Amino acid sequence: MTRPIILGIVGDSAAGKTTLTRGIAQVLGPENVTIICTDDYHRYDRKQRAEIGITALHPDCNYLDIMQQHLSQLRTGQPILKPVYSHKTGSFEPPIYIKPNKFVIVEGLLGYSTRGARDSYDVKVYLAPPEPLRAKWKVKRDTQKRGYSEEQVLDELTKREPDSEQFIRPQRQWSDIVVSFYPPSDDMDESNGHLNVRLILRPTIPHPDFTQIIYSGDGANLTSAIRLGLDRDMGKPVDVLEVDGHATLEQVNKLEHIICSDMPYLRNICDRESNPELGKVAGTTGETLQSYPLALTQLLITYHMLRATQNHQLGETQVVEQL
Ligand code: G6P
Repeated sequence: MTRPIILGIVGDSAAGKTTLTRGIAQVLGPENVTIICTDDYHRYDRKQRAEIGITALHPDCNYLDIMQQHLSQLRTGQPILKPVYSHKTGSFEPPIYIKPNKFVIVEGLLGYSTRGARDSYDVKVYLAPPEPLRAKWKVKRDTQKRGYSEEQVLDELTKREPDSEQFIRPQRQWSDIVVSFYPPSDDMDESNGHLNVRLILRPTIPHPDFTQIIYSGDGANLTSAIRLGLDRDMGKPVDVLEVDGHATLEQVNKLEHIICSDMPYLRNICDRESNPELGKVAGTTGETLQSYPLALTQLLITYHMLRATQNHQLGETQVVEQL
C-alpha cells in the first residue's frame, strides 16, 4: 500500500506559490498531482472580513482545524469534500469531492501554523521573496486578475503587515527549504535578466551533495554565478545555495546532474533528446522556457518528493518483512 506524498508550499500573498506549484506539477506530470489551495479554508467571505475587520492572514479567519483534518485524510489516501473560495467573487461556492493522486501539493498562507498540519507533509517549502518584490508581484496579480486598483492593493498590504509579521513569516522556521527569488540589483527590474535564487537548505531532510561543485575542480569557474555556503537561519545552521539568473547553461548543468544522478525519473525528464517538451520545463538542458534558477528550484523540490516516495516504499517493505 502506498500513500500520497505531500508537499507544502507556504508563503505570504503573491510570494509565487502558484507559479512554483504549477511548475512542480508539470515536472511530476499533472495527472499524478492533486493541488490544494488553503485559501479555500477561509472562515469568512470578503464582505464578512471587512465587517469584522479581520484579514485572511489571521488564523481565526481560517478553518485550520478542518484543513488539518483534510491533510491527514489526504495523507492516508482518503478523499475529502473540500470547500471552495472564489477569488473572483470573494464568496464561497459548493464544495468539491477530491480524491488524492500520487502527489499532493498544498499551497497557502497558513499551511504550517499548527503542529498537526506540519506533521502531514513529507516536504515543506517556504517562499520568501524580498518584500518590495512581493509587493510588485501582488500589485501586478491583483490588478490584472483580481480586479483591484494599485492603490487598493498597496493599502491592503499595509493593513495586512502586522498579521504577516505575526502569523505568516514565522512559519519559515518549520520549512525544509526556504526559497527566495531576488533581483540581481536593488532596482527590482527583472525585465532585462532573470531573477537569482537563494535556497536555504535545512538539515531536516537529506539534500543532494552539492559540495561536489566545490571539490570537483570546477569550483573556480562556478563561484561567480553559483555559490554554496554555510549560514544561520532563525538561529539554526543551514546550507545556502545561490544560483544567479545569468548563470551559464554549462554551470547550471552541473547542478542538474548532481540532483538527477541517482534519480532515473529525473534523469529521463531532463534528457531533452528523449523528452524535448518536458526537458524544457523540468531541466535546464537546452533552451529553457524559463529561468535556470526557477528550473533548478523545481527540480530540487521534485527530487525530494521522489525521494520521499522511495523512503516510504522502503519503509513499507521493511514493515512487511518484519511481519
Ligand atoms: C490574500 C491571499 C489570497 C486570499 C486573499 C483573501 O491575498 O493571497 O489568496 O484568499 O488574501 O482576500 P480577497 O482579496 O479574496 O478578499
